[in-house]
Amino acid sequence: MLDQTSKKLAVSIDRLSNDHGAGYHEPSMWIRWLCEDVLAGLGRRLKQPWSDAQRQRLFDLSGLYGEAARADPWADILGPVYMDVASRWKRSGMGQFFTPWPVAQCMAKLTINPAHLLSQPGYVRIGEPACGSGVMLLAVCAEVAEQVGSDGIAKLSLDATDRDQLCALMCATQVAANALLHAAPGHVEVWCANSLAPADAQEDAELVWGYHTTPDARPAQEPRQLVLPLDTAA
Ligand SMILES: C[S@@+](CC[C@H](N)C(=O)[O-])C[C@H]1O[C@@H](n2cnc3c(N)ncnc32)[C@H](O)[C@@H]1O
Repeated sequence: MLDQTSKKLAVSIDRLSNDHGAGYHEPSMWIRWLCEDVLAGLGRRLKQPWSDAQRQRLFDLSGLYGEAARADPWADILGPVYMDVASRWKRSGMGQFFTPWPVAQCMAKLTINPAHLLSQPGYVRIGEPACGSGVMLLAVCAEVAEQVGSDGIAKLSLDATDRDQLCALMCATQVAANALLHAAPGHVEVWCANSLAPADAQEDAELVWGYHTTPDARPAQEPRQLVLPLDTAA
């Protein structure tokens, strides 16, 4: 169920996909451009400049997204919008399903220990090897913001990967917007890569967005191979 502002965003994306004034583009393309537009405002290079028709439409869409992100800190806005739009545009190849917010919130509550977080030296790394829209990371940040505040957020080192570039873009956009509007994690990297591929087979990996706030924050690095726990009981 979408809240009012997310509903407005989903309706606008639907409308843009049916209004061919900026050419015919499916909703997934408008979500991608929305993400690229928000991230461009935060310093990520655009592959090519927007046309006048795109720029005006994206200005309005980014404004709606900014309004929603400002009103509801660390909420997963784009995941539900993506799934809502995808459910009505079955041909557009938007085949992803994300964790519902209350479930992500519950998992974050079970995981976060505020005293432990603040007593750790340096950064506390939160890894998400299949991030989707970033709902798990956002729920952790929402929980830390509520229990510890911005000092807790500054202790976090967020490391997200998804092999679907649109998912990596949505995750990067949501973390970046919240970092700007609410509180900045110490370190963020969002990669488009295959988390299951060995480290030496990651030539297509792309750092979609990232930064570190202090010189001692972990520098950008190649995505690590996901190490699956071995069954040592046998
Ligand atoms: C069911 S979604 C879950 C996303 C998110 N973790 C959540 O809880 O909503 C699974 C995600 O894993 C991504 N994925 C699947 N295989 C992957 C791989 N080998 N490397 C990176 N991402 C992968 C998919 O693109 C998708 O976004």
